[in-house]
Amino acid sequence: MKFLRLSTYERDDAAERRQKAGLRQRVIQAYDNPIIRWYCALRFHIINIDFLDTLEQHLAPEARVLDIGCGFGLFSLYYALNGPSRAITGFDLSRSRILAAQRVASRLNLTNAHFFCQDAERYEFDQDYDAVVTLDLLHHVTPEAADRLLRQAYQALTPGGVLLIKDVNTRPLHKLWFTYALDKLMMLRSHVHYRSASLWRRAICEAGFSQAVAYPLNDYLPYPHVLIVARK
Ligand SMILES: C[S@@+](CC[C@H](N)C(=O)[O-])C[C@H]1O[C@@H](n2cnc3c(N)ncnc32)[C@H](O)[C@@H]1O
Repeated sequence: MKFLRLSTYERDDAAERRQKAGLRQRVIQAYDNPIIRWYCALRFHIINIDFLDTLEQHLAPEARVLDIGCGFGLFSLYYALNGPSRAITGFDLSRSRILAAQRVASRLNLTNAHFFCQDAERYEFDQDYDAVVTLDLLHHVTPEAADRLLRQAYQALTPGGVLLIKDVNTRPLHKLWFTYALDKLMMLRSHVHYRSASLWRRAICEAGFSQAVAYPLNDYLPYPHVLIVARK
């Protein structure tokens, strides 16, 4: 079972595997609320460790990264910890999640991870980034707001910069229903706007990107998740 939790990239490098597992533990343990600690441990567990490494390969060691809808900042904090020269900025609608992320950044003495509270539907990019990341957020905003974020991300990215989206595909249907039920469980009043991976790719190209590549993600749980990588 433990073997399944190892990244494909890490299986032949025990030292790096231990180091990264240690970083994940440091992030988890730095949350003071035991329920958040439990949630973050679960999220790291469910996300599939391969995915963390896949995403990180697109984040250069000195990249300026924006994480839209960062939640508790779990992934931003991990990438900031594993890349001290990166500058990571994350925002989320939830004030309590942002406060938790800020507390962890300060507890871990991370000067390269900053968090603020902001509604993605009203966000105006005000600086350039080398990477814009948005994990499981876009289906929570209206299609108009999502398209606007894509256009603005394109404008804000430096040449060669990368847009990384993890979101929900609409097939297979039973996985979509599972995700819908969980989304409603987590945020009862939140509306969800799912799009197929091909519609996301089309919207990304319409925002200006010349190419968007979608990779299906296999989770333990039956999520129809997809990673979309687009370069400016
Ligand atoms: C499924 S969670 C993902 C959190 C984080 N990206 C992660 O992968 O752990 C979705 C997040 O989107 C945030 N969210 C929902 N609507 C938002 C909005 N309009 N603007 C900013 N964040 C929003 C929620 O507060 C929540 O933290």
